[in-house]
Amino acid sequence: MNNFFNKNMKFGHFDDSNREYVITNPKTPWPWINYLGNEDFFSLISNTAGGYTFYKDAKFRRLTRYRYNNVPMDAGGKYFYIKDEDTIWSPGWKPCKTELDEYECRHGMNYTSIKGVKNGVSANALYFVPLKTWAEVQKLTLTNHSDAVKKLKVFSFVEWALWNAAADMENFQRNFSTGEVEIQDSVIYHKTEYKERRDHYSYYSVNVPIQGFDTDRESFFGLFNGFDEPQVVAEGTPRNTEAHGWSPIASHYIEVELNPGESKDLIFVLGYVENAAEEKWESKNIINKTKAKETIARFDTVEKVDAALADLRKYWDNLLSVYSVNSGDEKLDRMVNIWNQYQCMITFCFSRSASFFESGIGRGMGFRDSNQDLIGFVHQIPERARERIIDIASTQFPDGGCYHQYQPLTKRGNNDIGGGFNDDPMWLILGTVSYIKESGDFSILDEMVPFDNDPATATTLFHHLTVSFNHVVEHLGPHGLPLIGRADWNDCLNLNCFSNDPNESFQTTENKTEGTKAESIMIAGLFVVYGRDYVALCKRLGKADEAERAQKHVDAMIDAVKKYGWDGEWFLRAYDYFGNKIGSNENEEGKIFIESNGWCTMAGIGQEEGYCDMALDAVKERLDTPYGIVLNNPAFTKYYIEYGEISTYPPGYKENAGIFCHNNPWIMIGETVRGNGNRAWEYYQKICPSYLEEISELHKTEPYVYAQMVAGKDAFKPGEAKNSWLTGTASWNFYAISQYIFGIRPNYDGLMVDPCIPTDWKEANITRKFRGATYRISIKNPDSKSKGVKQLMVDGKTINGNIIPVFADGQVHEVQAVLG
Ligand code: GLC
Ligand code: GLC
Repeated sequence: MNNFFNKNMKFGHFDDSNREYVITNPKTPWPWINYLGNEDFFSLISNTAGGYTFYKDAKFRRLTRYRYNNVPMDAGGKYFYIKDEDTIWSPGWKPCKTELDEYECRHGMNYTSIKGVKNGVSANALYFVPLKTWAEVQKLTLTNHSDAVKKLKVFSFVEWALWNAAADMENFQRNFSTGEVEIQDSVIYHKTEYKERRDHYSYYSVNVPIQGFDTDRESFFGLFNGFDEPQVVAEGTPRNTEAHGWSPIASHYIEVELNPGESKDLIFVLGYVENAAEEKWESKNIINKTKAKETIARFDTVEKVDAALADLRKYWDNLLSVYSVNSGDEKLDRMVNIWNQYQCMITFCFSRSASFFESGIGRGMGFRDSNQDLIGFVHQIPERARERIIDIASTQFPDGGCYHQYQPLTKRGNNDIGGGFNDDPMWLILGTVSYIKESGDFSILDEMVPFDNDPATATTLFHHLTVSFNHVVEHLGPHGLPLIGRADWNDCLNLNCFSNDPNESFQTTENKTEGTKAESIMIAGLFVVYGRDYVALCKRLGKADEAERAQKHVDAMIDAVKKYGWDGEWFLRAYDYFGNKIGSNENEEGKIFIESNGWCTMAGIGQEEGYCDMALDAVKERLDTPYGIVLNNPAFTKYYIEYGEISTYPPGYKENAGIFCHNNPWIMIGETVRGNGNRAWEYYQKICPSYLEEISELHKTEPYVYAQMVAGKDAFKPGEAKNSWLTGTASWNFYAISQYIFGIRPNYDGLMVDPCIPTDWKEANITRKFRGATYRISIKNPDSKSKGVKQLMVDGKTINGNIIPVFADGQVHEVQAVLG
């Protein structure tokens, strides 16, 4: 294993005090990216300035174009070309690829700054989206470190997308005729389709007079040149082109003269405007530029830009102050305190829509995904979580089923994919309960929420939870276990699809069977965990009858799992359409799966009988690898039409025996339920990116964020990651480490302290802001235990049990928990 990649290879380092990852070699093994913006306006940016920008929805409001899966990789972005005599270079090395004398990219919390130095000139490009702003601000600082005067020619560059990112990539017979721009002062406006159905345009400005511009792409590059050698830049003279159709771009040309030691800043603003119908025009065919000018004026000096960046930093100081640890292990602390929480914000904002692996046109917000994303985000901004829950629940159907995805711009369910994923409804209980436990705000349950966005059908959110619960109860199969539908959490376990047509997608194709037989033991475990939450909630609300009714179903599910879901050494995964077992020792391939063993041990099903211990030990023995826990074993080596997509992947990838990092925390939490802190911690470290920084070349994706998948033991290159950033891995790992390993867990009445740590940890310290007070929690472990709080003191007084009360007094409270 691992022969090609045994050398230590890093491409940068963490700078924890600035909360940055600093990349010092532009030739990373894959573009290492960052996200700008965290509300309405977003950009993706790589360490070489590749990427693109959109407003709210990466499909419907794409401002700038991006070419996925191009040659070379990562083509197109927010580029600056600097012509210094005959040398043409870019601060991010790409696109020019002129070797730089120095290069450094700092990815921080919603900002990126990329610096290049060449022939005595440094260029530092800072990119960020200021808070509450529909624009990306770029500050380019040029400094002359040489002893001669420098006369630089600077060309900016962005390429407009014609708004709908999907149509932009296919409908060329139309697109090549529609493009329109306006140029006024130093601002280039992109107004394609504005005169008819669009009420929005975009613009790209700079805060100094320009000496020229270009807006026609082919004139700028020349027909035969790539991003690395625009003809206009090579010639050093702009052509002042106005685009009519074809492919509009925006490039400013600025001449900058720098004396030795002198420094100048150029501020660019790439923004988006919406105008009401009656305010669209200044005069015939001339767009109303008022709002663009207002935004440009907010960032026209260095002082204003620096102040906006300082505000953004303060915003992150505040968000990250809600949960922080001091464990003495810097790799752990930087993940918990900075990067894992940051990634949780990103997954909250983007769900699975736009990354360097998700094209922004394939998927919107996922019902199950967005609910799970909440568990790593809700403590940061509970109000936004609340809004999200209502949006998600509004895409549910009256019978508790739901659209699998919805579009962020319209908030409507996505008809292309529809519903029928039978795990979906239960995640709404997780999302809602997590919000209430964090905020104490039970009023969300009384919110009137429609079904399928039809206001006439609105009922309370609580009722949505009831129908979610009932959806499972009303869809039980022959063994009393939940019917799987199209798939459960594992999108690729398609037990009713029987697809033999390569032109159909396993997720969107109608099932070929009526789906009354195939059952999921993963949903069974999920139902027990969140069914119990539902029962507890009903009791809290004084709904004793409903609690009793629900409890009976939970108990029945536990019995069904014990009777039909236990294989002798571990939990079965499912029953297929023919009633045959999946995930059983009887199977030749796919004998054991992670998901059902995670959920049934989290639920503690059969703990008395020793099932949980056996199942977790079987996972350790059969699924664990040096890089994490694989999804199933043995991997499938042929196509099983009755299993669907799972058996289409080559062994070791994705859902077929890949290390699907999303589900590893389920086993970590299962381990904490049985009190095995050493194991939980071992699993945590194996997939945690900061511990993999030294093997960056093998790992390939960013060492500061989780990837969805790491190639498993059956793969060609075990340990190689793919699909970084947008994955439920972010929230589940934060949930596991913060709430189950450190064990600081919000509940209705307060903050539970229930750590499950490695026996050799002597101490851990956590600061947690919770419902209006700050708790400084110190965990002491004098007897080398894993779990069990023998003494809990709050402000010097002993408390019975392990729940710290809600003080809501704005004060700091000292908490000491002693394990024993
Ligand atoms: C992807 C999907 C998620 C699914 C998982 C496993 O990450 O976004 O919904 O649960 O794959 O198939
Ligand atoms: C594929 C992937 C899975 C993903 C799904 C989304 O099946 O394997 O991870 O969730 O596509 O459509």
